Order: sequence, then C-alpha cells, then structure tokens
Amino acid sequence: MPDPLQTLDAVDAWCLAALEVAGCTPGAPLRWPVLGTVSADGMAMARTVVLRGFSPQTRVAEIWTDRRTPKIAELRQDPRCTLVFFDAYAQVQIRAYGAARVETQGSDWEAAFARISPGDLLNYATRMPPGSVLSEPEASADPGMARENFARILVSIDQMDVLKLVPRPGWRARLDWRPGYGHSWCVR
Ligand SMILES: Cc1cc2nc3c(=O)[nH]c(=O)nc-3n(C[C@H](O)[C@H](O)[C@H](O)COP(=O)(O)O)c2cc1C
Repeated sequence: MPDPLQTLDAVDAWCLAALEVAGCTPGAPLRWPVLGTVSADGMAMARTVVLRGFSPQTRVAEIWTDRRTPKIAELRQDPRCTLVFFDAYAQVQIRAYGAARVETQGSDWEAAFARISPGDLLNYATRMPPGSVLSEPEASADPGMARENFARILVSIDQMDVLKLVPRPGWRARLDWRPGYGHSWCVR
C-alpha cells in the first residue's frame, strides 16, 4: 500500500493529530515518550513519561511529575528538552525539540490535579523525594502529600525530526515551525 504521507503538510498534520490522540488515549502507541534533559554537569538524561495531553494548535505537550524529581531541577536550569516518541506498529520515530516550563499552581494546574486517579495520586506522595536511597523498598505513601508535590511540565515544541521506515523505503522529514524556517525532507 502506498504511503499516504507524501507531502510535508500531510506529515505535519499526521504528527500533530497522532500526538493529540496519544495525549488523551491510554494505550495509544505514542503515549510513552522518552523525555531528554541536560544535567547540571552536561550529562544527557532520559526517562520514560506518560504524554498527558498535546495541543495541535500550540504544539504544547503535557507531562505530569513530582516536583522533587531531578528532571525538574534540570529543566529549571536549562528548559531545552527532547521528547522521543516511537510507534512500533507504524515504525515511526518522532524526535520533538522544544523548551519546557514547570507549573505548580494556577487554574490549569488545579484542573489537572483534579483529573489524577486515586491510585496515581500515590505517584506524587512518597515520603522522601523520588530517587532517595532506601534500605528497603518504600511501602507506604500519604496521598495527602500529592498536592504539595504534583507538577505539570509543559513542553513547547518548535521542531520535529520524523522518520518512518515502512512502507519501504520510508522517509525522513524535518518539521520546523520557527519564524524564518520551514519543513523539509531529508536523507534517512
Ligand atoms: C511506563 C512508565 C511511565 C512513566 N511515566 C512517568 C511520568 O509520566 N512522569 C514521571 O515523572 N515519571 C514517569 N515514569 C518514571 C520515570 O521514567 C523516572 O523513573 C522518574 O520520573 C524519575 O526520573 P528522574 O530521576 O530522571 O527525574 C514512568 C516510568 C515508566 C516505566
């Protein structure tokens, strides 16, 4: 079957629509990107996260976390970050580049906090900060602590590198929404 993504505008529209679906659909193939940040000493850091929302209009991706995690300190020091998405079925990789801001209060933060399931509240409610060394696995968390620790990470994406390997021979495109730049095909 021929690949319907034959124009850069079609690739742009497909990526934004696929991420919008992933942001609101548990189990969607692009639901679990890897978020890359830079540590204080310049190390490339990366971890899997859940895409909690994506706006195709603003190209803002939403991630939820505990504000005590190292990634928050990293993003506060250097907001530049990368989100790598991979769909094993479509054989697509999307590398999205942008800048993050961290939100810990306000009406949108309140609305997001209200959406957290009771079970997931525990993700933001450990007694000690995530990554703290323990002598045995942590057994309990106090959901009452979640409000204090919950943070939204909002990544404003202005560039994407999209690689699709099937149908063969596949293609690679560079999407660039920055003023003065544009989209282009590039060598796989
Ligand atoms: C499937 C999966 C989904 C995850 N989703 C999130 C998430 O949405 N937010 C988050 O902060 N950590 C999430 N994690 C945990 C992170 O990968 C990471 O271990 C944790 O956030 C600590 O990262 P840091 O020490 O680099 O800040 C997830 C891990 C897995 C395996």
